[in-house]
Amino acid sequence: MENLAALVKQAPDLVEGATSVKSLDALQNDLLGRRSLIAGLQRQIGKMPAGERPCMGRAIQEARGVFADLIATRREHLERETERMTLAADRVDVTLPALEFPEGYTHLITSTIEEVCDIFIGLGYRVVGGPEAESGTYNFDALNTPPTHPSRLESDTLYLDWGDPADEILLRTHTSPMQARYMEQHDPPAYVVVPGKVFRADTPDATHSPVFHQIEGLAVDEDLTFSDLRGTLAYFAREFFGADRRIRMMPDYFPFTEPSAQMHASCFSCEGGGSCRVCGGVGWIELLGCGMVDPNVFEWVGYDPSRVSGFAFGMGVERIAQVRHGVSPLRHFFDNDHRVLSQFR
Ligand code: DAH
Repeated sequence: MENLAALVKQAPDLVEGATSVKSLDALQNDLLGRRSLIAGLQRQIGKMPAGERPCMGRAIQEARGVFADLIATRREHLERETERMTLAADRVDVTLPALEFPEGYTHLITSTIEEVCDIFIGLGYRVVGGPEAESGTYNFDALNTPPTHPSRLESDTLYLDWGDPADEILLRTHTSPMQARYMEQHDPPAYVVVPGKVFRADTPDATHSPVFHQIEGLAVDEDLTFSDLRGTLAYFAREFFGADRRIRMMPDYFPFTEPSAQMHASCFSCEGGGSCRVCGGVGWIELLGCGMVDPNVFEWVGYDPSRVSGFAFGMGVERIAQVRHGVSPLRHFFDNDHRVLSQFR
């Protein structure tokens, strides 16, 4: 009995001393388990004189109640504490700077092509593609370019199969062959633009690359004139370069157009005069070749030149992107240097 009274007195300190759920479990076993003092006394009750039993029984019940209450309260406290610590450890500091994941973006060449095509789509043109490995027939013959033309030399054109002029295969030197391919497959009217890669046997330098991009344009209808060509290209230039870039047209020669012209834009770098590195001081930069479709081209595809007329143009994508953004060396387009390219995302 005295031992029990002493244990009840100690109990609050003992329970307080359990600092984890695990040690509390052990203490619970010590105080209330099968080997506990209480359990021992309980077993002895039967051997006690009948008169003492109720008193002993009550003392045991009271002690049991005290222990159980203390333990339950402590357990609740410890569990709350454990949860609080877990939450504190898992806490997310929402003020930390976010992790950055690199995000892809469109290459300047691709976005330039898309933008130009959008402008022509707005004018009712269709966008079509053609093969990069092309026959000499479509690349040259269909476009009124005779077998003796210097551009057909191996020094200018990259041939995949060379020798017999009747079945030459080459890497197309321009996107113009799609003029012939499209007209062969479709009756007039035709309004198409053709973006794509083109290839030439050039040594890379600041202004040359053996691979670059062009966008070809072709419009065929009844009564199209040079004014329609000029108006279309002036509209394109205003949309693409903005109202302050001026254009001019100069006579030129292409085998597949007659008359032929080249279109210039005012220089982005100097606006004329001085010793500009970009335009050489003339104040103008050549943007594209163009002209009225030669009747021989119409005849080759089976169109009647007395019933239809049309114009065509071909622009260098790198060139117009350079003029628009003031990017100078051509290699910036192919180096894949994100410090350059990300400026145009
Ligand atoms: N194909 C020419 C070139 O690569 C560009 C060109 C000039 C295309 C005049 C045309 C045109 O359609 O009419 O230099």
